[in-house]
Amino acid sequence: MAQIFHRSTNTLSRVTIFGAVFIVAGILGAVGIFVRSPYVTREGVPVVQPVPFSHKHHVNDDGIDCRYCHTSVEVSSFAGMPPTETCMNCHSQLFTTSPVLVPVFASARTDMPIQWNRVNQLPDFVYFDHSIHVNKGVGCTTCHGQVDQMPLMMRAASLQMTWCLDCHRDPAKYVRPLDQVFSMTWQPPADQLEAGKKLVTEYHIESKTNCSTCHR
Ligand code: HEC
Ligand code: HEC
Ligand code: HEC
Ligand code: HEC
Ligand code: HEC
Repeated sequence: MAQIFHRSTNTLSRVTIFGAVFIVAGILGAVGIFVRSPYVTREGVPVVQPVPFSHKHHVNDDGIDCRYCHTSVEVSSFAGMPPTETCMNCHSQLFTTSPVLVPVFASARTDMPIQWNRVNQLPDFVYFDHSIHVNKGVGCTTCHGQVDQMPLMMRAASLQMTWCLDCHRDPAKYVRPLDQVFSMTWQPPADQLEAGKKLVTEYHIESKTNCSTCHR
């Protein structure tokens, strides 16, 4: 039978198949990088709020403790968000004519809570609990970054499973003394691994990597 295709097309088709495999791998790789990129995880992107509440002002300049507003962070899974009354403790006197505070005063008048936009949010199928972390020596800044330097709140970590597991496999890398959990200035010491190992023993910290820890 007469040859329909010239011999050279064999090479051509091999090159094409080979190339196609590479292109597919390239696309998958790019998608993989994309879903883990800060663009998707929203790391470092300040979240616009109905009121431009500044942690930098309130925490750093005014020295207000996290627990004044996030009252349940030590005792419950949920850190707690401040009701408008908490703002009014000060703002019934302070900045009463400030235009940016108008939604706060309206909320106080009407009893309609301010609708803060979420910054950190896990999917529904993930279980998280603040109190256990706070009571076992994991500081706010380890997960939320330098909140005291944020004029608008932003996500400091990806909150992806690999991020949780990196710490759960070896918490000694991150744990700090309990009296430093709320500190914005604590830095890991040069011998963090050794100091962390001691705390892991002292606080009876376990390495929890079972799926059912976070998926229940
Ligand atoms: C005066 C009250 C007040 C204090 C003090 C305060 N916060 Fe907040 N916090 C808020 C308000 C209001 C919001 C919602 C608006 C926003 O996201 O900025 C918030 C939001 C947050 C969020 C993001 C919540 C989300 O949706 O994921 C984190 C994290 C947070 N605060 C951590 C802290 C830490 C850590 C401290 C202590 C260093 C602290 N806050 C002190 C009032 C406060
Ligand atoms: C313990 C007192 C206190 C509490 C509670 C408090 N604030 Fe403030 N707030 C201040 C002070 C003091 C300033 C001035 C900030 C600065 O320049 O350091 C301020 C400034 C502000 C400003 C900027 C006002 C302007 O015109 O620039 C906004 C907005 C604001 N606060 C919102 C809130 C909200 C929302 C809450 C409740 C979640 C709240 N504050 C709770 C003391 C407080
Ligand atoms: C081990 C990491 C970790 C630590 C430590 C941590 N947080 Fe969070 N925080 C998270 C995650 C994850 C979320 C999102 C939770 C969700 O969507 O269910 C969150 C959410 C929040 C919220 C929004 C309300 C809520 O509970 O969902 C606030 C406010 C907050 N954190 C404040 C704090 C403060 C204050 C501290 C320190 C006392 C702290 N966090 C320590 C990981 C952490
Ligand atoms: C920087 C360290 C660190 C990070 C990040 C972290 N954890 Fe943890 N987590 C711990 C430590 C320490 C414990 C306490 C373990 C123990 O019980 O001894 C803990 C405990 C828990 C528990 C309670 C387990 C139980 O049996 O009650 C849950 C649930 C949990 N973590 C979920 C998460 C999730 C979900 C994330 C990510 C969004 C996360 N953690 C990120 C350090 C961390
Ligand atoms: C320390 C907490 C933690 C543990 C332990 C954990 N996961 Fe996850 N898992 C998460 C978080 C957080 C997410 C959400 C990730 C996101 O939103 O990107 C997640 C997401 C997932 C998803 C959805 C797909 C994805 O990757 O986003 C699957 C499937 C999953 N986990 C399976 C498992 C299995 C199987 C195990 C046990 C081998 C396990 N997880 C253990 C925290 C955990």
